[in-house]
Amino acid sequence: MITIQDIATFCKKKGFVYPSSEIYGGLSGFFDFGPLGVELFKNIKDSWWKFFVQDKENMVGIEASIISHPRTWKASGHITNFNVNDYLVACTKCKKSTKIDKPDLKKVKCECGGEYDWDKAKVVEQMFKTKLGTEQTEAYLRGETAQGMFLDFKQVYETSRLKLPFGIAQVGRCFRNEIAPRDFLFRSREFHIGEFEFFIHPEKNKCDLLSSKHLNLKVNLLDAETQEKNNDKLKETTINKMLKEKKIDEWHAYWLAEQLIWFDNIGLKKIKVREHMKSELSHYSSATFDIDYEYPFGSYELAGNANRGQYDLKQHIKESGEKLEIFDEETKQRVIPRVIEPTFGMERVFLAIICNAYDYDKKRENIVLKLPASLAPIKAAVFPLIKDAKIEKVARDIFNELKKEFNVSYDESGSVGRRYARNDEAGTPYCITVDEESLKKKTITIRNRDDTKQIKVKINDLKEIIRKLINEEMKFENAGKEVDTRKK
Ligand code: GAP
Repeated sequence: MITIQDIATFCKKKGFVYPSSEIYGGLSGFFDFGPLGVELFKNIKDSWWKFFVQDKENMVGIEASIISHPRTWKASGHITNFNVNDYLVACTKCKKSTKIDKPDLKKVKCECGGEYDWDKAKVVEQMFKTKLGTEQTEAYLRGETAQGMFLDFKQVYETSRLKLPFGIAQVGRCFRNEIAPRDFLFRSREFHIGEFEFFIHPEKNKCDLLSSKHLNLKVNLLDAETQEKNNDKLKETTINKMLKEKKIDEWHAYWLAEQLIWFDNIGLKKIKVREHMKSELSHYSSATFDIDYEYPFGSYELAGNANRGQYDLKQHIKESGEKLEIFDEETKQRVIPRVIEPTFGMERVFLAIICNAYDYDKKRENIVLKLPASLAPIKAAVFPLIKDAKIEKVARDIFNELKKEFNVSYDESGSVGRRYARNDEAGTPYCITVDEESLKKKTITIRNRDDTKQIKVKINDLKEIIRKLINEEMKFENAGKEVDTRKK
């Protein structure tokens, strides 16, 4: 069984993720992406953007500022609700301080059996404060990206020739003053949220985009009623059944299904959907589903999907005095749209991807990071098999040609076995070796990371083969002539 500590150690050793400011002893809840991590994270964000923004007809993106007008957070309810959800309280017996969520106040005991000193419970504000300009005006670092979409909603609508229903997406840094950052990247104080607000005519429930691929999708569901009975038994259901049981409305169901499809596309299978109980719904939501992933420390929230209704737009209309309703061409009505909000903790996706890929190979005696090729930081590594000027020249030419299209590396140091192991650990799906035969027959060998099988292909065909392998348009065994490695 791997632990989250194994993953953190591996990520640091390989240059995926480092603890922030280590030379000063680190800073709890903050991390830096290293050279491999920044590439993997970029590929995850790009995959998200392609799937949810560029591949959809009715979706556009923005990048809003991290600090917005402080009244944003008054209107959104974050100052009165979100900011006062976490309490720090000490146990009268073992004296240990613990974070308690608001709904558990005065209800729970310390794990040592002692009573908490509720009179001295201290609220810990979740929003990070900062001060602006010479006036030192108090402002906040955003706790979610969502408000950027609500603030820009009307401008985006007017400048992008959109009509209802449509969505506005962004991926960006968020900040939360977590009392107890833990489990490596899972609960940190600075992280990225990828989310979109999908605006729908307030009286329209029908979703024309729902197709059989969504309706027939299997869902491992932990529903609210089951949890209310203190049970955590999963039900195997489908999106269609959830609709029939009126657990979810059509647009909410469509986006939940799309989220599940993206997770499946990027190889995450250990997924369940958890319906929020009424008592835990956020202040803005009338129905929320979490998508949980089976991390090494348990099954926890990876992403969510909330029905925010008209809450945010109405709050901003009230606070700003601006008319944020829009004219709907189809019904000829001025409306305040309702909103469905799929949200993703991008570091949690990154962590799930690494946990899912991490595999200690006993035979090879090294870790093999079985990342989907499309997400791998380095797509191929080129090795000259021996030190020879002519072979090195061919290898360099191949590297320079592949580099035009893919992130590739050139590796000439150490034994070939060491070079394979290094690349297995980096998650590089293909290693390309150049040898004497490359000079004579203009062929090279490609080694597949996951099963170490090798094929011979022509140098001239290499770029297209690598492209097809990465895009899963071709199977490795069909890409070239298999090499019998026992003879090598
Ligand atoms: N706009 C909705 C919203 O912010 P949320 O559930 O509070 O909803 C969105 O946060 C996502 O951000 C969560 O689904 C989770 O994956 C991620 N997330 C929340 N707190 C986090 C933290 N402290 N560290 C890393 N990711 C976090």
